[in-house]
Amino acid sequence: MIHKTAKIHPLAYIEPNVEIGENTNIGPFCIVRGGAKIGKNCKFTAYCEIRENVIIGNGTTMGSRCTISANATIGNNTTIKYGFVLTDTPNLKDGGFKSVKGIGDNVLIGANVTLMPSFSIGNNSIIGACSQVRTNVPDDEIWYGSPAKFFKKNV
Ligand SMILES: CC(C)(COP(=O)(O)OP(=O)(O)OC[C@H]1O[C@@H](n2cnc3c(N)ncnc32)[C@H](O)[C@@H]1OP(=O)(O)O)[C@@H](O)C(=O)NCCC(=O)NCCS
Repeated sequence: MIHKTAKIHPLAYIEPNVEIGENTNIGPFCIVRGGAKIGKNCKFTAYCEIRENVIIGNGTTMGSRCTISANATIGNNTTIKYGFVLTDTPNLKDGGFKSVKGIGDNVLIGANVTLMPSFSIGNNSIIGACSQVRTNVPDDEIWYGSPAKFFKKNV
């Protein structure tokens, strides 16, 4: 169900069987695939794709050009800047899928970050711009680089 206060741009494409909460704003050219559940007070700027069965909490925002692969979860009050990709296909030759984990609450993800398949980012952590994350990032830490490495605690 799409809440009556949600704002869906006329150029966004929302598949059937999607839940979108109150005051959530879906910008132009965003695609939300079937089975996705998006909470309230979220904002997706433009050209984002939220794939099948993704679950996103309340108050989470995404800049333009973010792609969230199927079955991933993202928590509450997380801010994702432009160009983030959450991947689920480690091997491009056989196309096999690895289970997608996700992102916690109050996370801040800088521009153009890629989260590799099966890894997760803990609550209150920060990922610097242009990082490739290919390990689990615990709660309350700042990581950056390619591959991303621990920088310091997020106190
Ligand atoms: C990771 C981050 C939060 C760290 O910020 P900070 O604590 O102020 O760290 P500093 O800027 O003091 O940087 C410390 C060192 O790490 C390096 N560094 C910081 N972020 C980096 C990144 N994303 N990639 C590579 N190196 C980075 C700096 O060059 C500096 O190196 P030096 O000590 O050799 O000079 C920040 O650099 C970042 O990436 N912010 C996201 C910006 C962004 O994406 N904005 C989106 C909207 S425009």
